[in-house]
Order: sequence, then C-alpha cells, then structure tokens
Amino acid sequence: MLTIAFVVSVLCLCTAASPATFEKHTVTVPMIRRGAPSSTGSVNMSDLQARVDALVLKYESGIYAYAQNTGSNPPFSPSSGRRSSVRRAYTSEELTDEEGGALWQGLVTVGSPTQTFTVNFDTGFGDVVLPGTACTSACKGRTQYNPIASKSAVDRREAFKWTSPDGDMSGRVYGDVVGVTGLQVSNQTLAVASSYTPDFSASLLPADGVLGLAFPSVSRLNTSPFIQSLVDQGQISAPVFAFKFADDGSELTLGGTNNNLYTGGFTYVPVETKSFWNVRLDGISINGTLTLGSSPSMIDTATVLLLAPAADAHTLYAAIPGSKPARTPAGDQIYTYPCASATTLSLIFNGKAFKIPPALFSLGRVQGQDGMCVGAVAGSERVSFWVVGESFLQTVYTSFDMSKSRVGFAALR
Ligand SMILES: *[C@@H]1O[C@H](CO)[C@@H](O)[C@H](O)[C@H]1NC(C)=O
Ligand SMILES: *[C@@H]1O[C@H](CO)[C@@H](O)[C@H](O)[C@H]1NC(C)=O
Ligand SMILES: *[C@@H]1O[C@H](CO)[C@@H](O)[C@H](O)[C@H]1NC(C)=O
Repeated sequence: MLTIAFVVSVLCLCTAASPATFEKHTVTVPMIRRGAPSSTGSVNMSDLQARVDALVLKYESGIYAYAQNTGSNPPFSPSSGRRSSVRRAYTSEELTDEEGGALWQGLVTVGSPTQTFTVNFDTGFGDVVLPGTACTSACKGRTQYNPIASKSAVDRREAFKWTSPDGDMSGRVYGDVVGVTGLQVSNQTLAVASSYTPDFSASLLPADGVLGLAFPSVSRLNTSPFIQSLVDQGQISAPVFAFKFADDGSELTLGGTNNNLYTGGFTYVPVETKSFWNVRLDGISINGTLTLGSSPSMIDTATVLLLAPAADAHTLYAAIPGSKPARTPAGDQIYTYPCASATTLSLIFNGKAFKIPPALFSLGRVQGQDGMCVGAVAGSERVSFWVVGESFLQTVYTSFDMSKSRVGFAALR
C-alpha cells in the first residue's frame, strides 16, 4: 500500500446565507487519485472488465435495497422479468455492495480516540462501510476499524449479510463518531465488514472503505445518509455537496459549493427518483450529431466509466468508424476505437450539451493493437439506464443538492 501524504484544509466560506451561525460552514475535502486506468498507458482489459461488472453489481444491489426499503421497484429499474432474476440473484435480506473503479479517495476519522481511514466518496452508494478487525485476508493492507478501541462506539446488536453473485459480505452494525475535515457526526451508522467480496478487492477499491452519498432509499442498512446527519447535527446548513475532479487536484465540498471552482451558473437537472442521483439524460451527440435519445442516468462519483444499456452502447459505437467490441472473456461490454478519430461526445442535460473531449473519451491504449483506444462508454445488458462517471464529471463542476433534489453542472474555472 502506498503511504499517502495528505493535506486537509478547512475553508470557512461563511456565506451570507448564514451570517450568525459560523459553525455552519462549508468545508473542502481534498482527494487523491488511486488505481485509475491511465489515459496515456495501456488498459488492463481484465481489470476494466472487473470494474464494469462491479459497477453493474453495485446498481443491481442498490435497486434491490430500494425495493426492500420502499416496497416497490424504482421506475428506472429493469423489466419485471429481469427484476425477478435480480431477486433470485440476491437471496439474503440485504444486498451486496461493491465498487466500480475507486479512483478518488479522502480521509475520515472514526471513533474516540480517532482512527483514520481512506474512503471512496460514492454517490452511487448508500452506506458507510469500513473493514473490521475480523476481516483478515480479504482486507489485507487496509486500516481496520476496531470498535473496542473506541469509547464512542455503540454496538447496534445487528449483523448484516449482503449476498450477491460475487459472494457474501457480512459484518456487524455499529454507531460511532465520524469526522470529515473538521465536521463531525455522532452515532453514524457503520457497516463494519468482517469480509470483503471480490468487488471490494484492492484493485477495484484501493481505499479502506466507502462513504456513500446516495439517498437513503438505496441504503442497504436503510439509514440516514451521512450528509443528512451533518445537517441534522448542525454541522452544515444544507445537505449539499459538490465535486471537482481534475488531474491537478480534486476536491469535495460539503455544505455547499465552492465559488472559486466554477464560473457562470449551474445547469440544474431535477432528481427523478430519490435513490441514486437519478437525473434525465436528454440525449447524446457525437461530433454535434444527435445519436441517442433520452434516458434515465445516475451521476456516479466512484467510477471512471460511463455505463450504458447494451443497445445504446452498440448504437453509439456504430457511429464511430473503426470501433469494435473488445471481446473480453465476459462478453462485449467494452469497445475499442481508433485513437486517431478524435471523437467528441456530448451529454445533453436540461437541454444543454456538455462536451467530453476526445482525451477523456479514451481510457487508454489497447495493448498489442496499434492505434486502438478503449472507449470510456461500456455497455451492459443488465442496466436500463446510463451511469455517468468521472470521464464526464472531469469536464464540469458538479453540485448535488439533497434538499432540492437536483444535480447542477457548471463550467470549471
Ligand atoms: C491485469 O490486472 C489483473 C488484476 O489486477 C492482474 O492480475 C493482471 O496481471 C494484469 N494483467 C496485465 C497484463 O498487466
Ligand atoms: C443511534 O442511532 C440509532 C439508529 O438510528 C438509534 O436507534 C439510536 O437511538 C441512536 N442512539 C443515540 C444515542 O442517539
Ligand atoms: C469527429 O470529428 C473528428 C475531427 O474532425 C474526426 O476525426 C472524427 O472522425 C469524427 N468522428 C465521427 C464519429 O464522426
């Protein structure tokens, strides 16, 4: 494991909206990049395939949790036939989780005295998961949370077991103090794992754990999200957070947006179903020509990929001359295309087209195939919506507003 030099800065913006309540501030969490495919190097196809599979599994698991928590399926979920096969796949009372390409991570402190962990801040996930001391081989190299060493830890006397086709992840539920950059929440519900499934393997999740930022309906433990707890406990004034992803420094702002990071206004897109950050993608164009129409999409801060329904991915690459499925062992979810083609994809949100420049559309070169690159869009038969990850999010400043149920995109400064 790498030793991480990490700087945590607290930035009190003390906006005019809350002049008297100086404790309700905005904080900035710097993040570091780990385990990302390199856009200049060659792509490890089996590793990328594992990321695609893990990402699909994360959404299937979240949809299962949604159905358990609310008693109905989300409108964007697959057809009833497919739903029932998902049901069969997830046999236990709770769902599995996993991670689809953990790229950026930050630090949290847990307990008293504090134990420090790296976490992946994941808008496609609803719980806080940490490796426990019982997680030995599968959590090797990770910092393990030890509730016995924390005076503030409360054993909730509840075990969890999340079953998925990838294996079981089980553990115990605790409540404890969780801190991020000077903000603190007491009694945060923690899923303390005694095993990590392959989708939590170090190559897919380099961080110790995951801090979910989705709505509570997709929480496998059906708990209040960390961001809402920050508001409830007076640490921030609104359940709003924002991400900037960039090679020269990424950051997460909690409690609002950081005016220094964007210019102009936000283009807001309403959340359609409070679950994941589920917003309407109006369409996708290639070099300015509309190629795909409207689709539900999930804005996901924990993957580099754009994941599409298989048919959409097929249509998209059919419009890019020279592209072809990569034919990895698990199927044709990944596509390659001629690096020289310099294709510009645009995602249209709320009527506005946001460009993905050619450099971000490429995940890297294909080993042993001169001039071929791997496209950032992967296809899957198992999703009926798009998942919009960092290959897009690097092009914008993104705010997530839980109280107003909307996602905002602004131009990076
Ligand atoms: C690709 O990644 C996998 C899993 O991380 C690793 O086992 C394998 O050796 C890598 N292959 C190459 C060609 O680097
Ligand atoms: C901690 O949270 C749990 C679950 O929400 C709740 O049952 C319990 O009463 C809380 N404990 C305290 C001390 O607030
Ligand atoms: C998009 O435009 C670029 C630059 O003109 C060109 O190289 C590329 O082939 C075009 N792609 C498609 C799919 O038309």
